Amino acid sequence: MEIINRRQRMFSIARKLRREAKTVGFVPTMGALHDGHLTLVREARQMCDVVIVSIFVNPTQFNDQSDLERYPRDLTADAALLAEYEVDYIFAPEQHEIYPEGFSTFVNVEGLTDSLEGSSRPGHFRGVATIITILFNTVRPDLAFFGQKDAQQVAVIRRLTTDLGFETEIIVIPTVREDSGLAMSSRNELLSPEQRQKAAVIIEALREAKIAFKKGERNASSLAQIVKAHIGAEPLARLDYVAIVDRDSLEPIEKIGDEETLIVTAAYFGDVRLIDNVLLNRKQ
Ligand code: PAF
Repeated sequence: MEIINRRQRMFSIARKLRREAKTVGFVPTMGALHDGHLTLVREARQMCDVVIVSIFVNPTQFNDQSDLERYPRDLTADAALLAEYEVDYIFAPEQHEIYPEGFSTFVNVEGLTDSLEGSSRPGHFRGVATIITILFNTVRPDLAFFGQKDAQQVAVIRRLTTDLGFETEIIVIPTVREDSGLAMSSRNELLSPEQRQKAAVIIEALREAKIAFKKGERNASSLAQIVKAHIGAEPLARLDYVAIVDRDSLEPIEKIGDEETLIVTAAYFGDVRLIDNVLLNRKQ
């Protein structure tokens, strides 16, 4: 396993891998790796000849400076884990390698980025779309792996991949959960033990709505109400939003038909904001 810090070096490895017709699998991360990331890496290892993981805490996707500052960073621990998973390259650039002085080009995926996480975190998806464009351009992966937990991020990245003509196939892996059901996230580390235990209410609420859907409820506002009531009953939780939206366009849905539909929600525990979702009418 090689740790690459320079963008030029990453470019030349990517060029060499293409010449050798190797299938390149790419897992972009911000480090602080947990089982969710490792599941993506395992899947990439199974599907591809070469696995590249990037570790870069991307400043442009943080709209809150203190959130950026307290984001956990431990390259040594992350690298040790990735070596166990037989990763071939870690791309861990310094900030100036990605955003050199004078940097002024950003990628905006319109429409998809205004609602949900976009309205709570203005500029977040501009940062995500920009870094993913830079990383895809540098690594030139055949397949890139993302977690279903960040459903809006997935929709944005699918859109940008199509719109900008990247030849990368986006592979989405189901959310990996703690024993309680809480979706794995680096943010879980910021919760107190009690908050962490109670935060399972988020997936419980979503599952309750999914059960109602399976029993025949097709009215989106009724399903949203189930989630609201369940999370609202937990004193440590403060609901930010719950929405029923089309998986790809993220347009709100009132009456659920046959399309893949997401129930997405965000809730605060203290000042930590957690997100989760369930997919209805999964096709495959
Ligand atoms: O999901 C994340 O960790 C980040 O948003 C990503 C995709 C690595 C871009 O910085």
